[in-house]
Amino acid sequence: MGAIRVDGDSPTLAIIKTELQLAANGFLDKNLPLAFDHQEEAARLIISKQTPSGWDPSAKGSLGREGYRLLKNDAGVVWVAADTDIGLLYGTFKFLQLMQTGAGIPESGYHSEPKIQHRILNHWDNLNRTLERGYAGASIWNWHRLPDHIDQQYHDYARANASIGINGSVVTNVNANALVLTPEYLEKAAALADVFRPYGITLYLTARFSAPMELGRLPTADPLDPGVQQWWKDKADEIYRYIPDFGGFLVKADSEGQPGPHNYQRSQADGANLLADALKPHGGIVMWRAFVYSEDTPDDRAKQAYQEFQPYDGSFRDNVIVQVKNGAIDFQPREPFHPLFGAMPQTPLMMEFQITQEYLGQATHHVFLPSLYTEVLQSDTYVNGPGSTVSKVIDGSLHGYSLTAMAGVSNIGTDRNWTGHHFHQANWFGYGRLAWDPEISPETIADEWLRLTFTNAPEFIEPVKKMMLQSHEMAVNYMTPLGLHHIMAWSHHYGPGPWVTDRHRDDWTSTYYHKASENGVGFDRTASGSNALEQYAPELQAQWGDPKRVPEKYLLWFHHVPWEYTLQNGRTLWDEMALRYQKGVDEARQNVATWESLESYVDEERHAHVFSFLEIQAKEAAWWRDACLLYFQQFAQSPLPEGVEKPEKELEYFMGIRHRYVPGN
Ligand code: GCU
Repeated sequence: MGAIRVDGDSPTLAIIKTELQLAANGFLDKNLPLAFDHQEEAARLIISKQTPSGWDPSAKGSLGREGYRLLKNDAGVVWVAADTDIGLLYGTFKFLQLMQTGAGIPESGYHSEPKIQHRILNHWDNLNRTLERGYAGASIWNWHRLPDHIDQQYHDYARANASIGINGSVVTNVNANALVLTPEYLEKAAALADVFRPYGITLYLTARFSAPMELGRLPTADPLDPGVQQWWKDKADEIYRYIPDFGGFLVKADSEGQPGPHNYQRSQADGANLLADALKPHGGIVMWRAFVYSEDTPDDRAKQAYQEFQPYDGSFRDNVIVQVKNGAIDFQPREPFHPLFGAMPQTPLMMEFQITQEYLGQATHHVFLPSLYTEVLQSDTYVNGPGSTVSKVIDGSLHGYSLTAMAGVSNIGTDRNWTGHHFHQANWFGYGRLAWDPEISPETIADEWLRLTFTNAPEFIEPVKKMMLQSHEMAVNYMTPLGLHHIMAWSHHYGPGPWVTDRHRDDWTSTYYHKASENGVGFDRTASGSNALEQYAPELQAQWGDPKRVPEKYLLWFHHVPWEYTLQNGRTLWDEMALRYQKGVDEARQNVATWESLESYVDEERHAHVFSFLEIQAKEAAWWRDACLLYFQQFAQSPLPEGVEKPEKELEYFMGIRHRYVPGN
């Protein structure tokens, strides 16, 4: 490259200039000789909303609010074009990524526009800086020091997000504290919003449904009460005085002790519409969570969100979007897609993925989550016939939704590397890439991330990419193979706990989900059991309802089968389960060896850090295997098949393990 021309002046354009200057100081592998030059003739890189002379303006076309185009002329001059400053910022980041990965600008140019409108991180961060299910240190939001002290980390955070296209941040926990809606905290939130704005990031807050009572001293929070409606309207007006481009509210209601419309015998639509009406004049949206289930376990937990929401399809205001977790239980290592994705054609639905690894080994287990995300996004709901994938539901193309969004529960904290495990940065990155374009393959994401983070050397990229791409299946194997789910330790969910039973709520225990006995194992969700299956399309009911046709990865999710049941490969269920646990352990050990052999490609500090975490993962994979197999063996009453290591300890030892002060709990 040579000289650069950035046309115009704005906070966002200033960021672009800084990014280019930083890049000019050197990429990972090579130096890009870049310099600023305002003489048009000399410019080799042009960042501009105007068509530079000599370029065909028709090449630009409309790029929307966030799209961009990269073009190269015969003389090799590169033009980053967009209709907005934010489009230019995204285009600049893409340009820099293409340079770093060595891909360069394709001859025909490069064009990109997000397929999803709102691409959001959900921080489950409390005002006291503790985190719900966060494993990488404290909350990065230092509310005590805000608004006067603006930490550099807020800028770094916004910059990292903008580089992958994330454009929204809900900065507070879904288990909400009404305090954040008081003037004292709105002033602090406004300071964060000011940092985010030039990076194209909108700030959102969680709203506690009972806030009118807690803050406004009203006798009720009933959504149909005119006093309550007025309170929320006034509150919205107040928030917009602090944050003129406030994005809106994320709400967890009627779930796990959170207040909601149920307290007044009102529906989820009544609750969501109350807040939507207050935000509407300002252009704000409500993300109303579908994670609603009763305290009394009246029915299979997997069925309750559908029962609660599906009857209200079409009853939500046009600035409401229902936020649905990827599966019907709770971010398990593997779950079939949530049935609501195939059942709400008249209500915009958004995806909620978990980036933080509550049920997946937390900070120390390397699991490359884009594999999980893509499995869900590419699942066929059959709602409008074959090809009705979840990705087409949430990108709005299937039902013509007016609003589209995706949320990822953040894995970020104050750890020096942001995410605890260096490789968990890849999950933040991958989430952002999939929110921009849900069709990108996990393989592309892993390749990009490795090149942008470590090196372009194929001797490094190939083995590490392989390790990343098989890591999800590996973790499922050593934790919950064949459709097992929710057999983690009580409350903190760290490590195995298939024996957890008899607690104050049934649907937080393991025995509720695996139902193991001498007769077999698995949750019968067919017509002979809870019939959760009837919430899916007839095509899926036919396939998943038949133990011979259901993909074996979902077998024990939908069926209760005897231990001697024969699988497709001719093995008994027990033997296959044991061999899968062993396979997970073998692969985790192999990863340690692979990483060890790549020492020369990574700096010492990061190499050692990742190495010790991979060792923890291999050790804990064996812990999972031994604990689960010893527990289930009591019922299966069969020996371990050949090839499975014999545990060195008894079941009682594993049942006696207590982890105290597990983070995020
Ligand atoms: C899980 C998690 C909770 C969280 C909840 C939610 O149940 O364990 O900590 O609050 O999900 O998504 O609201």
